[in-house]
Amino acid sequence: MRLAVITGGSSGIGAATARLLTARGWQCVLLARGAELLEKVAAEIQAEAEVCDVSDRAQVDEVAARIAERHPAVGLLVNNAGYTGRRGFLELQPEEIENIVDTVYLGSVWCTRAFLPLLEAARPADVVNVVSVAGTFAHGASGPYSASKHAQLAFSRSIRTELAGRGVRVHTVNPGPVETPGFPQRHLLSRRVGSRLVLQPERIAETIVRAVERDRAEVVVPRYLRVAGAVQALAPGTIARLATRARGRL
Ligand SMILES: NC(=O)c1ccc[n+]([C@@H]2O[C@H](COP(=O)([O-])OP(=O)(O)OC[C@H]3O[C@@H](n4cnc5c(N)ncnc54)[C@H](OP(=O)(O)O)[C@@H]3O)[C@@H](O)[C@H]2O)c1
Repeated sequence: MRLAVITGGSSGIGAATARLLTARGWQCVLLARGAELLEKVAAEIQAEAEVCDVSDRAQVDEVAARIAERHPAVGLLVNNAGYTGRRGFLELQPEEIENIVDTVYLGSVWCTRAFLPLLEAARPADVVNVVSVAGTFAHGASGPYSASKHAQLAFSRSIRTELAGRGVRVHTVNPGPVETPGFPQRHLLSRRVGSRLVLQPERIAETIVRAVERDRAEVVVPRYLRVAGAVQALAPGTIARLATRARGRL
């Protein structure tokens, strides 16, 4: 049975991914900070639970060492832990901005580095970085989160190249809006058009598994949101003007 480590495995996309992987015959180890929910989800799917704050490099190294004592190899690492501060650069406290960067961006870096020996021991192995459309398109809302997702996306693209030839394939999954406990989509769900944009976490879990099975470098889900990053790259001034106007109407 192959072993998968899923950060943020106690809720939303991480929990849905763990359930799907378990159904496909994987043994899962779930990481999160809150023990209660983590252990509940782990018990439901006979997974192992490890309390760990991925923004803390020492904790990540300790968890990887503990897992290495029990398992010789890890076939899949899903870097999924994350949260959004929901506010802008001037609204959040400096510590909150640091924590978002440390969790969303650096958490993926620390986990990938810490689990690399176990991933290489499982060759061929896979890493999935759950990034976001917010990592391809920035429009002012939740700026620190979006900036951290941009950094995480650059990390994911870079490390795919760095690990090529070492038997560890890296995949990026960029979801649009998904209804989860940490990212309630009330503002979209309350509108008829908006509600059609919102996906369920199970859809992202399927995308994650498919990205591994088909060795996809980068996937945006839903696919049409690929246009967001492309349009901003081509016309950043126009997007900035439209975003400023929309902000003025709020
Ligand atoms: N939902 C969306 O609309 C959406 C869209 C695009 C991308 N994403 C990305 O998808 C990923 C999963 O989000 P979700 O929507 O499933 O949110 P969620 O339901 O809130 O789940 C987040 C998970 O991450 C864990 N977590 C948060 N901070 C952590 C830390 N420092 N160390 C370890 N675990 C931590 C949480 O558990 P604890 O709090 O107990 O630690 C929880 O298990 C995130 O990276 C998010 O940015 C979400």
